[in-house]
Amino acid sequence: MPAVSSQAGGETPRDAALGGSRKNPTVALLPGDGIGPEVTGAAREVLAAVLEPVRFETALVGGRAIDETGSALPDETLSLCRRADAILLGAVGGPKWSDPSAPVRPEQGLLRLRRELELFANLRPVPLFSALGDLTPLRSDLIGGVDLLIVRELTGGLYFGRRREQEESEDGLSAFDTMEYSVTEVERVAHVAFRAARERRGKVSSVDKANVLASMRLWRRTVTRIGEQYPDVELEHVLVDACAMHLITRPAAFDVILAGNLFGDILSDEASVLAGSLGLLPSASLGTGSLGLYEPVHGSAPDIAGSGKANPIGAILSAAMLLRHSLGRDDLAQRVEQAVARALERGVRTPDLGGAGSTAAMSEAVLAALDESG
Ligand code: NAD
Ligand code: IPM
Ligand code: MN
Repeated sequence: MPAVSSQAGGETPRDAALGGSRKNPTVALLPGDGIGPEVTGAAREVLAAVLEPVRFETALVGGRAIDETGSALPDETLSLCRRADAILLGAVGGPKWSDPSAPVRPEQGLLRLRRELELFANLRPVPLFSALGDLTPLRSDLIGGVDLLIVRELTGGLYFGRRREQEESEDGLSAFDTMEYSVTEVERVAHVAFRAARERRGKVSSVDKANVLASMRLWRRTVTRIGEQYPDVELEHVLVDACAMHLITRPAAFDVILAGNLFGDILSDEASVLAGSLGLLPSASLGTGSLGLYEPVHGSAPDIAGSGKANPIGAILSAAMLLRHSLGRDDLAQRVEQAVARALERGVRTPDLGGAGSTAAMSEAVLAALDESG
């Protein structure tokens, strides 16, 4: 997997920071809302099983943080995250805090955390487990050979552009958001995608809407220019609407998908269908240092929260990414990934995977498989 750098080639700040594995790491644990505490509980056990010693410090984020402090990202949480070696987060949000007129929303806490820590590159691999081959709705001839990584820009675009919640206009009340990208913002995430492709199958599919949007024409021009520094990587540009279709009609043709903040968000939930469930997808949010934020791609799943049915695999695989990208322990990351594969081969399944197993049963199966490999 790639080190994150704003330059092609050479040693990067991240490589230098990692320089080897970290001793006595501190992991900031931000369980959040809904199924967040359930799935991070499982991921924490897995981390503790492979990494000795490791220190967890738990803090509030999201809706529970609003309830207890009035803020979706309390200062203590942010300062804990800054001094930690890595952050493991569950999910934020839920119906209790979803009133569109509420002055503060859980999601703001997560967005601010990403932005404050400058975690501009969000890696979202789509894990295909052979034991789950029957779960995808796609025909086997379409799903064969699928192996893709979405690199989503995470601190710019429509999520962070100028906006107004309420404005009086000639037509009455209106509101707006703006999609803005600077050349620098596109360059740095494009480097991440090209470097990742170099270590994979050598192809980047850059997603945009350059036929309509000015910000996306800047995106396309910039990605094209950065691509010239990677002559060994094939670059294609795909319009986002067509990309949504190609993900279903020719998913195996993709290697690295590079997308802006909004498009990457939408396409990654779509891509989860290839794997079989949204509950399987992990993510790593990285900047130029070794500090990273690791969270499953899914949300707080209010419809199943508290029922013990949540699939913990997205969170467990996020912990594996934490081991790889922030702690320099690719060996342990691979052990965790193999343990997940073995647990699935043994037939343990949460309801989203078509079974009746609980979160606890799934995580115990992963822990048992880890034990055997230890
Ligand atoms: P969601 O991802 O929470 O759930 C979508 C569907 O997938 C639901 O049916 C849910 O039960 C299922 N699902 C999700 N994760 C699962 C898991 N681990 N195991 C089994 N099934 C799982 O999306 P939503 O319902 O649209 O959003 C709920 C809340 O979560 C919203 O407030 C949203 O803002 C928030 N959210 C947070 C994050 C995050 O914190 N990173 C991500 C996405 C959504
Ligand atoms: C995600 C989520 C978040 C996003 C929300 C909760 C702010 O959907 O991480 O995919 O849109 O980035
Ligand atoms: Mn999302």
